[in-house]
Amino acid sequence: MLSKLTKSSVKESIACALHECRHKTLKLFEGMDDSTFRSQPHPDFSPVGWHLGHIAYIESLWLLEHSAGLPCLFPQYRKLLAADGLPKSERVQLPNLEEILYYLDTVRNKVLEHLEVVDIEREERLWRFLIQHESQHSEIISFVWELLKREEGALEKKVNDAPSYSNITEMVEIPAGEFEQGQDSIDALDNEQPAHKVYLNTYYIDQYPVTCGQYRVFMAAGGYENYRWWSEAGWQWRQTEQIIQPLYWCGDRNVDNHPVYGVSWYEAEAYSRFVGKRLPTEAEWEKAASWDAQANCRRIYPWGNELPTSENCNCDSYGALRYRLIGQTTPVDAYPKGQSAYGLYDTLGNVWEWTASWFDNYKGFQSYPYIGYSQVYFDQQHRVLKGGSWATRPWVLRSSFRNWYYPHMREMFAGFRCAAD
Ligand code: AVJ
Ligand code: FE
Repeated sequence: MLSKLTKSSVKESIACALHECRHKTLKLFEGMDDSTFRSQPHPDFSPVGWHLGHIAYIESLWLLEHSAGLPCLFPQYRKLLAADGLPKSERVQLPNLEEILYYLDTVRNKVLEHLEVVDIEREERLWRFLIQHESQHSEIISFVWELLKREEGALEKKVNDAPSYSNITEMVEIPAGEFEQGQDSIDALDNEQPAHKVYLNTYYIDQYPVTCGQYRVFMAAGGYENYRWWSEAGWQWRQTEQIIQPLYWCGDRNVDNHPVYGVSWYEAEAYSRFVGKRLPTEAEWEKAASWDAQANCRRIYPWGNELPTSENCNCDSYGALRYRLIGQTTPVDAYPKGQSAYGLYDTLGNVWEWTASWFDNYKGFQSYPYIGYSQVYFDQQHRVLKGGSWATRPWVLRSSFRNWYYPHMREMFAGFRCAAD
């Protein structure tokens, strides 16, 4: 039993997170024109306006209909804004920004009324899920925005960073032993649970994500033209799609010490083979990022259990699109305070990292809050990505968090690091 006092502080922390998360989401829409709101630069990603409406729809469905037992407030939006309502290509016929903002506000006001009276002890997990749901769509909005910028040819404008002097080819030895994968906290999504022990043999893993400078060597050596570096599926994809460089490649030497991003799993795999390495499994990545062998326990974040700040990782960038302030990559050695116990840099934030693992359930998995969240993707078709990007919200940034996409997808902010035996 939670005491009355604890209950009210749980409610306060939830109200605060709901508010902060929404503030950041709305920042992305400041001054946005209608055509941007509904434009769809890639068929696999809905327009930014759809994501905004969908955030309200899911909040209303779970917190007002399911939790509070209220009737659907805006039944006219159900078909359009449910994830399984309309094909993505038909999601451009949207209400305008003003109407969607009214929808968000109306739902949110009712939600806050419901929070006052809800039995939070029973429902905390659901509320924390919704904050994370909005966080994820907020990041996807940033992906779509990056695609729009790319169409405009506006990606070149990069900050001129001071050169970095680290030895970015360094690998770290991770000694054989058990660690704990996944976690069971109130925040943990269904696919992170249950936490379980995994034994790994000794392996090596890159201290830093692969940089643009390193990736350029692969490109200059004809990596995209030589099938020997590619798997059969990867080569076929590369041929069919006529891929010759990462999606967001800018070629600017100023970013040679930034992680490469906009690569598919196939490109990550080919590069790894080119340098005589391989991709880490998810377990290898997670152990190297979160296990504290000395204390014999896992850390929520690579640096410990304290929330992310601008001192230890590049995440959570947000700002009005019209000012082009949604952030970008940083040098891979920019956050020494963000190192894991094993000394890895940049595991959280900056860019997502592909792993060798299929997205699959841990033993004892229980679907929550609906099977369409994770379970339908346990299909041996999606690869796991770890760590989050510069656009990832803090509520979904942790070493146990699992993202997943088809191996050919490159629109997310994803790079990788390599491993070896
Ligand atoms: C975990 C990012 C793959 O976009 O389908 C959003 C997140 N799930 N609403 C997705 C999600 C339901 C999910 N990813
Ligand atoms: Fe969703």
